[in-house]
Amino acid sequence: MASHAGTAPLPPPPVQGADVQSITASELLGWRRRMLALGGAPAALDWLLDLGGGLRWSQLQSLWSHPEADVPLQCSLASLEALWRRHLDTEEPLQYLVGRCPWRDLELPVAPGVLIPRQETELLVDLALSLWPSGLPLSCWADLGTGSACLAIALARGLPSSRGFAVDASPEARAQAGANLSRWNLQHRVTLLAGDWWQPLEPWWGRLDLVVTNPPYIPSATLASLEPVVRDHEPRQALDGGPDGLMAIRTIVAGSLRGLAPGGLLLMEHHHDQSEAVGRLFLAAGLERLGVHADLEGRARFASARRPGGR
Ligand SMILES: C[S@@+](CC[C@H](N)C(=O)[O-])C[C@H]1O[C@@H](n2cnc3c(N)ncnc32)[C@H](O)[C@@H]1O
Repeated sequence: MASHAGTAPLPPPPVQGADVQSITASELLGWRRRMLALGGAPAALDWLLDLGGGLRWSQLQSLWSHPEADVPLQCSLASLEALWRRHLDTEEPLQYLVGRCPWRDLELPVAPGVLIPRQETELLVDLALSLWPSGLPLSCWADLGTGSACLAIALARGLPSSRGFAVDASPEARAQAGANLSRWNLQHRVTLLAGDWWQPLEPWWGRLDLVVTNPPYIPSATLASLEPVVRDHEPRQALDGGPDGLMAIRTIVAGSLRGLAPGGLLLMEHHHDQSEAVGRLFLAAGLERLGVHADLEGRARFASARRPGGR
């Protein structure tokens, strides 16, 4: 897999407000046609106009019927064009080029070396909040493999009286997670820890009410067939689940009985064809009350189970 480390430094992300430009709708639509003639998907270009230029998709749609309308863009078309051309040339994800990714109600800063948070992972937060019995205090939770800290930030906001831990083995991920936790002023409620899955949590083993994780789960041999935008630019450490995709999952499940509090909940995202294997691992480890949960397309993508005992 090619590494992001070998590519040229990122151009500065468009600084909204720094080079505000006002053009007419027909000028913008002409620019859009010229950019699409270079290549790329319309949805990706419209995403760049939205995140980079501040032009919402609904505003863009209204331009077709109002060609003379003024369109206030939050940065110049020249800087958007530079990002678009670079994306087409190098297949770098637009999220890295813009430096941000919308996820739930957040606009998370992201950079090379950190997994771009995926839409399906948003569901892990809703599952965590809905599976925990209402009225039962949840004091301590952890996010194993936190990446951008997307899950940790959402959980901390959803569980305001709890204490959280965000673990990652990657220094790049921890740097981004730390910056993101501070941006949402959560650095005092969520402790960032370096190391391997459960290991840095040892002082809290047996006390964690909830552990969420979106581990690397793609079989190594499948990595080569991923889209270049993922394969060549997102961190292998965040994707590679070993020969059968279950390497990290096995380690996490194996530590769960020690790490979770009695009655504590483990909630995990996995690949679309791993549901049965993950369920077997959960039960073999001694977890109980196995739950299988679907993504928005109806595919089993999440598993939950509890440590016996407790409430
Ligand atoms: C699939 S990414 C998930 C990132 C983030 N939670 C999300 O959902 O966007 C997996 C994360 O696990 C981290 N990771 C990989 N191996 C690890 C290990 N042995 N211990 C802790 N974290 C690890 C990676 O650095 C990466 O950030």
